[in-house]
Amino acid sequence: MAAQLTGRYVTASVAGESFEAFVPEPLPPKLAARELATLDEPLRTAEAALARLDLAGEMIPSLDRFLYAFVRKEALLSSEIEGTQATLVDVLAWEQTDQAGDSRIEDIEEVTNYVAAINHAFEQIHSPKGAPISVRLFNDCHRILMQGVRGANKQPGELRRSQNWVGGSRPGNAVFVPPPPERVADLLGALERYIHAEDELAPLLRIALVHVQFETIHPYLDGNGRLGRMLIALLLDHWGLLKSPLLYLSLYLKQNQAAYYRNLSAIRTEGDWIGWLRFFLVGVAGIADDATRTARGLYSRVAEDRRKLLATPGATVTAIQLFEQLPAHPVVTMPLVTRLLATSKPTAGKAIELLITAGILAEIGERKRDRLYRYQNYLNLLD
Ligand SMILES: Nc1ncnc2c1ncn2[C@@H]1O[C@H](COP(=O)(O)OP(=O)(O)OP(=O)(O)O)[C@@H](O)[C@H]1O
Ligand SMILES: [Mg+2]
Repeated sequence: MAAQLTGRYVTASVAGESFEAFVPEPLPPKLAARELATLDEPLRTAEAALARLDLAGEMIPSLDRFLYAFVRKEALLSSEIEGTQATLVDVLAWEQTDQAGDSRIEDIEEVTNYVAAINHAFEQIHSPKGAPISVRLFNDCHRILMQGVRGANKQPGELRRSQNWVGGSRPGNAVFVPPPPERVADLLGALERYIHAEDELAPLLRIALVHVQFETIHPYLDGNGRLGRMLIALLLDHWGLLKSPLLYLSLYLKQNQAAYYRNLSAIRTEGDWIGWLRFFLVGVAGIADDATRTARGLYSRVAEDRRKLLATPGATVTAIQLFEQLPAHPVVTMPLVTRLLATSKPTAGKAIELLITAGILAEIGERKRDRLYRYQNYLNLLD
């Protein structure tokens, strides 16, 4: 049976019902050279697109400011796969004012948790004393991801101790039953070792393999999809393919969700790694090109608005200083501006007014206090 190629089934039981749980073989799978060769072209295309994105990132001065929005866009999209509904502006506004707009607070919390988790992970792997990509780091990220209302009963930061399943109402009728809980630690440990071991396979292909293995182990009670997608961003950095988290691959996985799940399943049921790898490469290439356009678009937008502002009669130094902060703070309030510019309320108010006159900032909604202003043309490019 083809399924034997990628793992094996073990019989387990829950509440008196027995079922087959899937235990994957450790990575890497044995892929025939002839089949791998069919990936040469999509692999080269994806690598070239990533290299262009990486370069676009390098050419943007103070890229960090732009990353602010990219990371939130990816967090939002990744959270949406499970049905979280929040808007980018509501998330940005929440970070400034603790007001959720039309989005539900729980939804916003999920997105901001995702941002906190990925920021934590990047800090760790970039700091000499930080945790490497490891089970420990996964647990830490899981704890952050599950902070607050929805995650509280999902054993935050802990590998699962019970049987879980994907699709269906119980293991007996599920689409997919991951390994029994007592196997999780060993399987994940082996995955960690694979990440740090040598393999002649192209790194981009290794990333696709690691993502699947993580989803197949399904090590946590919830959040496995989000952590597995975060892992893609970390590995792009780890293997030197992309220095900054600019690739919002979740957009592709969300737009092609049915194919995404089908491809994951086909590895287990048909031993079809190649189909998944091709699907992954096509997505990386498409999103990398999209992200390159977005990065360049945002940068030109800022350059053009800067020119416009400088040509606006009465443009003050504080208005220009505020403008330069907008990429990292595309939604602002009066208290935030006062703080950012270390200035008085009237001066901050004048700077905001000036940017409104210049057509750069626009008020969101009509609030009496804690009014919100967004950098509209910039945010439009991210939608
Ligand atoms: N048939 C399948 N085989 C293996 N993994 C699957 C399958 N279907 C879905 N998955 C993975 O399981 C994830 C969902 O798991 P879980 O609910 O723990 O994660 P989440 O982050 O809470 O949700 P989501 O990924 O939907 O946002 C999917 O994103 C996908 O990566
Ligand atoms: Mg879930």
